[in-house]
Amino acid sequence: MSQSPLEDTFLECEALFAKPDSLVRVVLSGRRRNMQTEHERIDMRPIALKDGLHIQVSHSDGRQMTTKNYKPADAPFAQLIRSGYANVLLEHTDGSLSLRITKKGEPLVHREISQNEQDLAHDRSKSRLLDPSDPFLIAIGISDSDGKVKPSKSDKYLQVEEFLRLLVPTLTSAISAGHIHKPTEANPLTIVDLGCGHAYLTFAAHQYLRSQSIPVTVIGIDVRSAARDRNNEIAQQLGISTTIEFRAEEIADTTLKSADIAIALHACDTATDDAIGWAINSDARLALIAPCCHHDIQAQMNEIPEPWSLITRNGIMKERLGDLLTDALRMQIMKLRGYRVEAIEFIGGEHTPRNLMIRAVKTGAAPDASEERKYDEMLNLWKVKPALATLVNR
Ligand SMILES: C[S@@+](CC[C@H](N)C(=O)[O-])C[C@H]1O[C@@H](n2cnc3c(N)ncnc32)[C@H](O)[C@@H]1O
Repeated sequence: MSQSPLEDTFLECEALFAKPDSLVRVVLSGRRRNMQTEHERIDMRPIALKDGLHIQVSHSDGRQMTTKNYKPADAPFAQLIRSGYANVLLEHTDGSLSLRITKKGEPLVHREISQNEQDLAHDRSKSRLLDPSDPFLIAIGISDSDGKVKPSKSDKYLQVEEFLRLLVPTLTSAISAGHIHKPTEANPLTIVDLGCGHAYLTFAAHQYLRSQSIPVTVIGIDVRSAARDRNNEIAQQLGISTTIEFRAEEIADTTLKSADIAIALHACDTATDDAIGWAINSDARLALIAPCCHHDIQAQMNEIPEPWSLITRNGIMKERLGDLLTDALRMQIMKLRGYRVEAIEFIGGEHTPRNLMIRAVKTGAAPDASEERKYDEMLNLWKVKPALATLVNR
């Protein structure tokens, strides 16, 4: 008897997973409609232990990574792929399969032929996306001249890596779902990094995506002209200035009119709103934004609706609630403008306290009237108006 298309795809994934000799990695992420998952994301990969190949299954509880190793036949793969994750990325040595499960429970599958290398090292810290001795990491100052990550830059290095770990599967699923065009050298993806600073993420996104045969052009925007000059000079030195460029501009006034993907890592305070506002107004298809410090809503939290003073009478808790309100309202504005939005923790809190990422894919879906109401009620309840609302004329 023929199965449902989704079940057929699960079985195809199981068959690929059942060959640990050629399995490279699996990432489960996102949540299917009306389903709850125990973890934000699960990573699985084969590792070599003394008694043979095992499957390492990892997830983060926000503070630290938990890993468990299973004999291949015992790994709970079949159960996990059916447990509510919306995206499955399965890489093997000859290619990859990415599955996105739609709201209606239909599978959108993208298969690619590519050569992927297995890394069976047990110690996860050795399985890096960015080789510290890569000349670009030395040029931008993350690594020293011996190709070792500078101690003062190790948190930034990890933030950038984890950002990329999320960017790539998000991008692949958005391409396979048709939310973003399939890039070619003639028609590459454009990525803008808003508030790029020393451009660690900007260069890393350019170099890593190109190394994965994803044609991209990348633009970094930062208000500081010294940053622009330094970054353009490094791009020249690396011989990549035809596909990466930097501009010294305010995000809100940038001359850049469009990009497929907007990224921002810790753009200060309302510069994050400028970045999201730019993404919405320029119709970016994908936005990955890790906010920085928040002051805008906190400064407006003067009339506290009871019984919330239970929280706000403690300074640190008021601050955290202000952060949550700010990001929740930013996300709701994006939702109301046709984005599917999630908040995810992109790195453990020990590497940065600013470890939340807003991930948004433009689907164009019209929001329910109830979502408009919830947004209005939240503003009325707290007597606040988010900076982003003004930027997008809400
Ligand atoms: C905390 S740094 C982060 C830099 C970089 N994204 C990173 O993670 O290393 C914030 C950067 O945003 C830039 N910035 C702040 N407000 C801005 C604005 N309105 N327009 C453009 N850049 C801005 C600052 O100059 C600074 O370089």
